[in-house]
Amino acid sequence: MMQDVQKVSLIGLGDMGSALAKAFLAKGHALSVWNRTAAKAAPLLDAGAHLAPSIDGAAAAGDVLVICLSNYEVSGTLLGQPGVAEALRGKTLVQLTTGTPQEARNAEAWAKQHEIFYLDGAIMSYPSGVGAPECTILYSGSAVPTRRDGCCSAASAVMRYFLRTRRRCFDA
Ligand SMILES: NC(=O)c1ccc[n+]([C@@H]2O[C@H](COP(=O)([O-])OP(=O)(O)OC[C@H]3O[C@@H](n4cnc5c(N)ncnc54)[C@H](OP(=O)(O)O)[C@@H]3O)[C@@H](O)[C@H]2O)c1
Repeated sequence: MMQDVQKVSLIGLGDMGSALAKAFLAKGHALSVWNRTAAKAAPLLDAGAHLAPSIDGAAAAGDVLVICLSNYEVSGTLLGQPGVAEALRGKTLVQLTTGTPQEARNAEAWAKQHEIFYLDGAIMSYPSGVGAPECTILYSGSAVPTRRDGCCSAASAVMRYFLRTRRRCFDA
């Protein structure tokens, strides 16, 4: 099933987002990135990533959009920009920004409203540990990979194969 997901897009290239990006590239998958400060993408472009011209462009480019930003307020502002929800319709959004359970529920409600499959994760690692077998990401949401459809295999691929995480499902 992991072959279903070849293209990953990533919004947010801070310390953690950049570590996630390197993990995706290390797995050999096409990666499109967007960051407010575009200069942070430079080392990733050298490693084969593509710089998306906009957030909706990044959303359109990937089978899955991973987002890792300072907080949900920033995340909500960026996802709310024109064209982003439309570009994500029918795809999977993986939210790895730290927040509260209520923020996760609100984000999932937004995704459901726009027919976007949703996964919310909490990274139990420093950036240096991302991609290692010991890295654990707790996650929950409508795209939890327990069903055998496209969205779930996409989420599964991101969390279990691309990042080599151990799976921990919980009810947020
Ligand atoms: N670092 C860790 O050890 C760690 C561990 C577990 C979880 N996390 C979580 O991962 C998330 C990212 O952490 P990080 O360490 O990567 O933080 P960071 O290095 O401070 O990066 C923050 C990211 O958010 C972006 N951002 C902030 N304000 C923005 C705005 N107004 N508009 C657009 N983009 C904005 C930044 O863009 P610019 O580059 O343009 O500033 C950058 O991409 C956080 O939710 C954090 O809690 C981090």
